[in-house]
Amino acid sequence: MSTETRSGGTDGVAASASDTLTVTDNRTGKTYEIPVTDGTVRSMDFRQMKTSEDDFGLMTYDPAYTNTASCRSAITFIDGDAGILEYRGYPIEQLAEQSTYLEVAYLLVHGELPTQAQLDQWENDVTVHTFVHENVKEFMGGFRHDAHPMGMLLGSVGALSTFYPDANDISDPENRMIQTIRLIAKMPTLAAFAFRHTRGQPYVYPDNDLSYPGNFLGMIYKMTELKYEPDPRLERALDVLFILHADHEQNCSTSAVRSVGSSQVDPYSAVAAGVAALYGPLHGGANEAVLRTLRRVGTKENVPDFIKKVKAGEEKLMGFGHRVYKNYDPRARIIKTAADDVFEVTGLNPLLEIATELEKIALEDEYFISRKLYPNVDFYSGLIYEALGLPVEMFPVMFGIGRTSGWIAQWLEMTQDKEQKIARPRQIYTGRRTVDYVPVADRG
Ligand code: SDX
Repeated sequence: MSTETRSGGTDGVAASASDTLTVTDNRTGKTYEIPVTDGTVRSMDFRQMKTSEDDFGLMTYDPAYTNTASCRSAITFIDGDAGILEYRGYPIEQLAEQSTYLEVAYLLVHGELPTQAQLDQWENDVTVHTFVHENVKEFMGGFRHDAHPMGMLLGSVGALSTFYPDANDISDPENRMIQTIRLIAKMPTLAAFAFRHTRGQPYVYPDNDLSYPGNFLGMIYKMTELKYEPDPRLERALDVLFILHADHEQNCSTSAVRSVGSSQVDPYSAVAAGVAALYGPLHGGANEAVLRTLRRVGTKENVPDFIKKVKAGEEKLMGFGHRVYKNYDPRARIIKTAADDVFEVTGLNPLLEIATELEKIALEDEYFISRKLYPNVDFYSGLIYEALGLPVEMFPVMFGIGRTSGWIAQWLEMTQDKEQKIARPRQIYTGRRTVDYVPVADRG
C-alpha cells in the first residue's frame, strides 16, 4: 500500500508532529498527514487527495459555513457554550457597564482602549463628520412615504460611495481611517433621516454639542424646541445598546462585509452589503419580528397556545436561538437590565409581561432546552426601542448603527490580512452537462 505523507500546512505549520491528522483515502489506499493548527485543518490540504492525475481533488462541503473558519481575527471572541463575549479581550459586561459606544468603536478599530487624548481626538473626529451631503436629502426624498427604513439605510449607505470616490483607494491607511470615521459618524444621521422621512417630518441636522447617542435622539425627536436635551437615562441606555450590538465575530452581515470587501470595493459598498444581510428576519430583522410576535400573542394568557405552535413547527420563537450561543446570550441579560432603566422613564411596556412569560415557559420546556434555545440579543432590544417610541421598522436600523463599528473594524482587519484574497467559494454541481441547443420552433 503506497503512502503519501504531507507535513506542515502552507501557512499554519503544525505545532508538533502529533498536531496532525492521518487520513487514509480508501479509494486509493494512500495515506496523508494533514497539519492541525488552531483547531483547524486547511481545506486546501484535501485537494491533493485524488483518484487519478486529472482528478480535481477533494473539496470540503459546508453549506452556510456552519463549521468553517473564514479568517483569523483578533477583534471579537465568543464562547457559545459558556455564554462569553469579549471585544479585543474585554468582557462585554465590563464594557457595557463602564465604557461608551465611541470608546468601544475605537477599541474595535484600533485594538486598544484609547488614552484620554486619543479618545478626545476620536470623539471630535466623529462629531465633525456627522453631516451628510445635502444631496442625500433629495436621494432620501425619492423613497415612498411607507418605505422600510432599512431599505432606505441600505440605499443611502451605498450611495455614500458616490460622494467619496477617493474611498476606492483602500491601500492608503489614512484614507481607510477617514472613511472609517465617516461611516461611524454618518450612520446615525442616515438612520434618523430615514425615520423622519417615514414620518413626513423635516430632517434634523446633527448637534455637535450632544453625545453620540444624544445626537441620534435629537435627530429623531427634535421638533420646535431651540435645543434638544436628551434624557440622560435614555441616552445611556441607547449607548449600552450600541455597545452590545457593536460586533459579533463572523455573523451573517459581517461575513457579507468581508466577502464583498474582498473584491477591493470601497468600504461604503461593503458595509451596504452588511446592511442588506442584517435586514433579514433571521439576523438583525429578528428584533422587529419579536415585537410583531409579541403583538400577535397579545396577552400573557395566550402564551401557552403560542408555545404549542412553536413546538409543532408552525411558528418560530423569534429572538430565541443562536448559531453560536448554546447558552444564554450575555447581551440579552444586559439588555434586560437596561430595559428596566428605560421603563423608569417611559413607563413599563405591556409587551414585557408577555416576553417575560414566553421566556419563563421556554426556559423550562424540553423542546427549547434540548435544542439549546435561549433568548438572544434581539429578544429584549425591541422592547426598549418601542419604549423609546420607535416603530418596529426602525429596530434593525438601530442594530445597524451599533454594528457599523464592528463591520468597519472587520473590514479594516480583512484589508490587512495577507492570507485573504477575493472570496470565491466552490460548489457541488448537480445540474446536467453538455446539452445540445434546440431551436424554439422545435421545443415541445
Ligand atoms: C442575530 O450570528 C450572529 O452572531 C447573529 C447575531 C449578531 O450579533 O450578529 O447574534 C444577531 O442574528 C441573533 C439571532 C436573531 N435571530 C432570531 O432570533 C431568529 C430566530 N432564531 C432562529 O431562526 C435560529 O435560532 C437562528 C437562525 C438564530 C440560528 O439557526 P441555526 O443555528 O441554523 O439553528 P437551526 O435553525 O438549525 O435550529 C436548530 C433547531 C431546529 O429544530 P429541529 O429542526 O432540530 O427540530 O432549533 C429550532 C430549529 O427548528 N429552532 C427554533 C428556533 N431557532 C431554532 N425553533 C423555534 N424558534 C426558534 N427561534
